Amino acid sequence: MTGLTRPIATLKPKAWWEERLAEALRIYNANHDDKRNLADWSIADPRELQDISKLDRNYLVDPDGKVKLNLGSSVVMFHHGIINVDIQPLHEYAHHNGYNFRHADIRQGLAFQNSESVDWIYTSHFLEHLKREDALRFLKDCRRVLKPGGVIRVIVPNATYLMVRAARDLGNYETSLIDDFSELSYEVSKCDNSLDAFYALACENHHALYSNDTLSALLLEAGFSTARNARPGDTEFDSNPNAVQMIKETYDMFPDISLIVEAVVE
Ligand SMILES: C[S@@+](CC[C@H](N)C(=O)[O-])C[C@H]1O[C@@H](n2cnc3c(N)ncnc32)[C@H](O)[C@@H]1O
Repeated sequence: MTGLTRPIATLKPKAWWEERLAEALRIYNANHDDKRNLADWSIADPRELQDISKLDRNYLVDPDGKVKLNLGSSVVMFHHGIINVDIQPLHEYAHHNGYNFRHADIRQGLAFQNSESVDWIYTSHFLEHLKREDALRFLKDCRRVLKPGGVIRVIVPNATYLMVRAARDLGNYETSLIDDFSELSYEVSKCDNSLDAFYALACENHHALYSNDTLSALLLEAGFSTARNARPGDTEFDSNPNAVQMIKETYDMFPDISLIVEAVVE
């Protein structure tokens, strides 16, 4: 299954909807020539509801035979059979939402004894939480477990963009970094100057800052053959099926302030 193409069932009985939609139905019926009475429609077939209760929680898994990782997921998990990993115990959240989840400290190494076991790795706003030497060890481990043709997509705060924005704001005595990102970050909303906002977005709880050049260099040092800067929701490796699949099955958080670098194993 390549994703849901239709709703499987409506989870509330017809009477529940009728009660809440009574006024909307009255207005709809009064304004439509065909005078169809929506309340006559059968909203859920009870047999369908019975069937869904028997479905495995992993009914959203895409049995494409690939091994796909989302490392440092937090609650930004993905379906399609992707294995989401975090140091926080998020089993319950994952179970309730039908995600595959593994609870692990990624600094201890990826739990694949065999090299060349994984097709692609997505890791968003995680790398900056590691010290540089741990980040290099982590990327080397990613390189080790990826198959030839495998891809990694690394997303971190875009330090270059944030520094330029902060410097411009200081010159103008304007606080546009704060205006633009207060909704994204509670820490930013408490700031009253751009340097503090820069610190909150780029540095708080982080151990490293990256530019396109330094992140690409780290990926090459870890053994990847090519590293390229990518736009949110897009790939620069569009002839690589893993890169194309990854952007279809994931989505990039915080596109405005993110630096995205993809790298491949040849
Ligand atoms: C800022 S969140 C990123 C969440 C999500 N990927 C996103 O893009 O919004 C960083 C996540 O990395 C996790 N994390 C930090 N250190 C970790 C480690 N050593 N092993 C596994 N997960 C870790 C944290 O628990 C947190 O959920």
